[in-house]
Amino acid sequence: MPYFMQAGHVPRKRFSQHPGDDGKLLAAEVIGADGFSSDMCLMYHRQSPAAIVAVAPFESRQVAFAANEPLLPRLFNTDQLATGGDTVGARRPIVGNADVAVCFVQADAPSPLYRNATGDELFYVHDGAARLETVLGTIDVVAGDYVVIPKAITHRWVPTGSVPLRALVFEMSGHVRAPKRYLSPTGQYLQESPYFELDLKRPEGPLLVDGEGVDVLVRTRGGLTRYTYRRHPFDVVGWFGCNYPYALNIADFSPITGSFHRPPPVHQVFEAPGCVVCNFVPRMLDYDPRAMPIPSFHSNVDSDEIIFYAEGNFFSRKGSGIRRGSISLHPAGHIHGPHPGAWETGPSRVGQRTEEVAVMLDTFRPLGLAAEAAAIEQREYIHSWAG
Ligand SMILES: [Fe+2]
Repeated sequence: MPYFMQAGHVPRKRFSQHPGDDGKLLAAEVIGADGFSSDMCLMYHRQSPAAIVAVAPFESRQVAFAANEPLLPRLFNTDQLATGGDTVGARRPIVGNADVAVCFVQADAPSPLYRNATGDELFYVHDGAARLETVLGTIDVVAGDYVVIPKAITHRWVPTGSVPLRALVFEMSGHVRAPKRYLSPTGQYLQESPYFELDLKRPEGPLLVDGEGVDVLVRTRGGLTRYTYRRHPFDVVGWFGCNYPYALNIADFSPITGSFHRPPPVHQVFEAPGCVVCNFVPRMLDYDPRAMPIPSFHSNVDSDEIIFYAEGNFFSRKGSGIRRGSISLHPAGHIHGPHPGAWETGPSRVGQRTEEVAVMLDTFRPLGLAAEAAAIEQREYIHSWAG
């Protein structure tokens, strides 16, 4: 969990009078999670952050996710999505439910100023680079970064790489947090946690921007509303607290390995309402000479599972059509496991390394299908285990 930080010009005492350079009182704004009972940040604006001069509906996007019926495993190839646009307007829903919408975006333009009023957003950056500019400062984002943007934090994405910013986007219905078992009672990452405070990239800044008549898009469950503010929201001279965006690179996740199979919870990175996020990273495979070299067939009786195949060659999926950038959906009720091609080379893998990188989301309620996903679905996937 992010730990306390402060940036810029802040007062000695919380909620005390805090004048700016011109002697005028700065406008304090609190953004707190879970009512007034959890993490918060307190920032100091030069001008009122609430001075709205115009409001307009911008886009109605109530994504209806169709039930996965008949019950099928699904495979989507994100490289078939169109490239262009920005991380807000060009994100495409693939699957989702009331807890999470899983989207993919291939953006080549800066996004508008934006905030999500429904839940935190979690990005996994697959390709490209970007500068994430937020009301609390900037984060330089590179491929392999998870980026957690808390609900209600105004921000924009500016692609900076030589290729488009390709990212998996989870729109959550609540907060993204570290698994509780990774944390001490007071919130420090424990020694057995696979990542640690030192691994988190935190915002640098604040990014002082002044300006007038600035549009901000706000996402609610019904779509996007455009607010026009009298002053730029990034006019923050200082802030402090524990509620801020941060990034964690997947290469900084230290995998937990064993002599025999370790189940997926050892690979968990985050939790959010109704779901968990795990990842598979380069690591030693099970090293006891008697270890089963191939993953078990399994049936996720209480969850739907999606896997985003990020890097490497996906040994257990050999012959399935899965490639870099694919997303598989294995729903509850569907027995699945290694594809036939995996059995040929399996035994030689005991004690070896794997270089695969993948991100997995398990949801506790069924995932439905976005209409737009049909265009990138590989329909023959259901037969891929039959060889
Ligand atoms: Fe699975």
